[in-house]
Amino acid sequence: MKDPRIIVALDFSSAEQALLLAKKLDPMLCRVKIGKELFTAAGPMIVEKLMSKGFEVFLDLKFHDIPNTVANACRVAADSGVWMINVHALGGKRMLVAARDALPLGGTKLIAVTLLTSIGSDDLESIGLNNEPGNVVQKLAWLAYSCGLDGVVCSALEAAQLRQTMGADFCLVTPGIRPVDALTDDQNRIATPQMAIQNGADYLVIGRPISQAADPLLMLQHLNKEIEAQLTTD
Ligand code: C5P
Repeated sequence: MKDPRIIVALDFSSAEQALLLAKKLDPMLCRVKIGKELFTAAGPMIVEKLMSKGFEVFLDLKFHDIPNTVANACRVAADSGVWMINVHALGGKRMLVAARDALPLGGTKLIAVTLLTSIGSDDLESIGLNNEPGNVVQKLAWLAYSCGLDGVVCSALEAAQLRQTMGADFCLVTPGIRPVDALTDDQNRIATPQMAIQNGADYLVIGRPISQAADPLLMLQHLNKEIEAQLTTD
């Protein structure tokens, strides 16, 4: 598969658990995401190990700090050879531009988190942002775009509008994906893989539906088929 659309979230507290799942997957059929939990437990070693097994890695550390600190962290992350990294768009224009300038163009993809999907209107008000979450997402996505970032993380439900405003080349990465007949776990605003692709998502972050499947590889193949079917009808 040329450009696998699924990014499997390795949400584990040890390298052993992550490697056990990775062993059941195929780097030709997916990429993997290392988040704060796994990286805090296992460090750069797990990034190297997964890359040595052929997996392209999305290092999901959501940097958010002063521009100089974020730029340096992005540089170190990109030097490790990972496929994708991210920062918080709420860090503002100078931070986003510093992160962009720290990375060679055409190398590691740099995307931004707009608003966390866990943030609602009440949360926004309590931090002094008197606006609707949807408007804030649009504003932050536009900021990321205008600072030259490669894309944003967004819910599949936000993807359609962002695809329209941001154009075809802006990368949309969507978590909160559930197969039609799956448990929702703690996710609220979920979409099926077909819906996400139909709405313009490029990459789908999928954790538990794959990691907790009886046969993770079979589930991955099944989800890839759903995605392929949608891509060919678009
Ligand atoms: O297991 P599940 O498919 O729900 O995992 C989704 C992954 O995407 C987790 O790693 C979670 O932290 C991440 N994520 C999310 N919602 C966001 C951003 C990231 O679920 N808005």
